[in-house]
Amino acid sequence: MNTRQSTTIVGNPLTENHTKPFCFAHLSDPHLSTLQGVRPGQLMNKRVLGYLSWLRRRRAEHRMEVLEALQRDLQQMHPAHIVVTGDLTHIGLPDEFLQARRWLDSIGSPQDVTVIPGNHDTYVHLPWKDGFAHWLPYMQSDDAGKLFPGLRIRESVAFISLSTAVPSAPFLATGSLGAQQLEKLALLLDETGRRGLCRVVLIHHPPVPGSEKWRKRLTDGRQFCDVVARHGAELVLHGHGHRTQENFIEAEGVRIPVSGMPSASATGLRPGRQAQYSLYRVRRQEPGWLIDVAVRGYDADRDAFTPQARRKPVLPDR
Ligand SMILES: [Fe+2]
Ligand SMILES: [Fe+2]
Repeated sequence: MNTRQSTTIVGNPLTENHTKPFCFAHLSDPHLSTLQGVRPGQLMNKRVLGYLSWLRRRRAEHRMEVLEALQRDLQQMHPAHIVVTGDLTHIGLPDEFLQARRWLDSIGSPQDVTVIPGNHDTYVHLPWKDGFAHWLPYMQSDDAGKLFPGLRIRESVAFISLSTAVPSAPFLATGSLGAQQLEKLALLLDETGRRGLCRVVLIHHPPVPGSEKWRKRLTDGRQFCDVVARHGAELVLHGHGHRTQENFIEAEGVRIPVSGMPSASATGLRPGRQAQYSLYRVRRQEPGWLIDVAVRGYDADRDAFTPQARRKPVLPDR
């Protein structure tokens, strides 16, 4: 991890004492399933569009050999936790959920890997038992309560997971949180802030308004940003864009970083879209947090992930 850049993020007053660094990985949008052998009867809805997109482009872009290299790299880097911010499938078929579950099992245990859904995982409505039930151990909160927002606390970090995955009309890839999830998010941010934890919010769609095309936007992104600005967070991580995205949410003199990653399985047919993931190392520093970020990307010539020259911008100060 030799391309780290340090970032100081000011958090809430300390009420718990954690000084040891905690390292976690963020990856997104693996779109890992293969659609070979799909039956025509399974495509009698919006899924036919996703299938054609897979045939035309995505099957060449999202490759299992990249995910195998990623798996090797994760084993070597050995983060204490891994977060996956959605779009594990292409068109959300039952077989794809099973393939994704096997892949999740290969990168870590449900205790060590946190997953949220993306819009491709809910392309059309699918009965719970045929889809998300397979991922439940990876999505569930520590208290095994209701899903989304979820809360998993690992050492000094509180992972707060959200779902923006709702079926959308053909040609749209929008997402929505809804009022209920936003209300509970506010409560969780307050609670974890009072406990002095580093609050990392996981969301599939880029939440900052204007940061994504209209047809791919988060419909209540403005409301999300208002909640985060009012109640505080240390970091917001997302996927969906299949490219590096860096934004901020302004909050009373503090800019809360909002960071998106390219697809974790992309061969990089389009410039700037090659697979990457981030390694975060979180350490308490009075006042607040020191968060180091190292980005690792796929090198096709070496069939391996290597440190990237790209660095995250220096973030923020009061
Ligand atoms: Fe995606
Ligand atoms: Fe997406």
